[in-house]
Amino acid sequence: MKTSDLMSKILAVCRARGFLFPSSEIYGGLNSCWDYGPLGIQLKNTIKKKWWKEMTKRTNVVGLDSSILMHPKIWEASGHLEGFTDPLADCKNCKSRFRREPGDKVCPYCGSSDITEPRNFNLMFQTSMGPVEEEGSTVYLRPETAQGIFVNFLNVQQSMRLKIPFGIAQIGKAFRNEITPSKAIFRTREFGQMEMQFFTDPEESESSFDYWKDQRMTQLLSLGFKKEELRWKDHEKEDLAHYSKKAGDIQFHFPWGWDELEGVHHRSDYDLARHQKFSGRKLMYFCPEKKKSYIPHVVETSIGVGRLFLSLLCSVYSEEELEKDSRVVLKFPADLAPVQIAILPLSKKAPLVELAHKIRADLNDDFSVEYDESGSIGKRYR
Ligand code: GAP
Repeated sequence: MKTSDLMSKILAVCRARGFLFPSSEIYGGLNSCWDYGPLGIQLKNTIKKKWWKEMTKRTNVVGLDSSILMHPKIWEASGHLEGFTDPLADCKNCKSRFRREPGDKVCPYCGSSDITEPRNFNLMFQTSMGPVEEEGSTVYLRPETAQGIFVNFLNVQQSMRLKIPFGIAQIGKAFRNEITPSKAIFRTREFGQMEMQFFTDPEESESSFDYWKDQRMTQLLSLGFKKEELRWKDHEKEDLAHYSKKAGDIQFHFPWGWDELEGVHHRSDYDLARHQKFSGRKLMYFCPEKKKSYIPHVVETSIGVGRLFLSLLCSVYSEEELEKDSRVVLKFPADLAPVQIAILPLSKKAPLVELAHKIRADLNDDFSVEYDESGSIGKRYR
């Protein structure tokens, strides 16, 4: 099956079964924005709950929920104001705008070589705080949840009396004005992120990186992915983000080929050192055993909620051949399935229906239950 056919089939079933709807559809939609329907939000919540449990079941990983709008200096310190950019060029022939890498000589849309030199375009969304747009009121929608964790490092460490190594986990929205949002919810301008920053002794940061790389792969496999659907890919030096010393992706085999699902980054002391410099506040940790103070190094795991959602849908999508037709079956593992139990009484007669409602009420607290008493049993069962 062609890649585009498979993606359109997955999107069609997502829409027909209430997983995903294009946002603002009655107004013609809004590019790259999506709404999660009744079954979609059920699956999305399960994904988040599982990630949260996996992270915070450890004694040394705690949670946080920081705000989306933060002090604008944070983005200066983090390097996002200066470095979170894509090189953009314009085609003078077909007037399209596209990302131009150093080797690109022609427009990817029409093939014309009449293209401009690339200009850097910052991916952060800007807005202004307060009723008057004036100098100094500009704030940014966070492009990653991580910075809320870095600036709260000492608050969390001191209030919870944590010893290094420890981690802080967070789930929240992030925003990027992507030039080429694509492939439905794979790359969007608004997306959920699940990130964990693990603060370590600099000397232990390399082993911590290896540990988290393995942990994340194990956890993704435990969600029901097949081994052959996932692989690890190291980042080349020239592809590293401005904050990374070393990094890699867990990739999933999407209908269009291997692509990034989750990133694991060794961020060294880059973020804490920069925040220490820009805020003037000491962000050091005193190690009582070694009797020394240091800025911890950070290993980060980061995955998009929507991207994990899409990869799971791709993984469970299958088609069954019938005599004249075929039908789609989403083979979810039971603990991920948005509907886990269906209660289908064989008749609408009083004692049976009463009992069926009682069973539903009993199961409702622990499972996601659907009730249906109309239509043929064969159809309802399907
Ligand atoms: N804090 C590190 C960070 O944000 P990243 O590699 O830019 O690193 C991490 O993003 C993960 O977030 C990606 O692996 C992907 O799952 C998700 N992600 C990033 N940009 C996204 C977008 N525009 N739409 C959906 N998910 C995105």
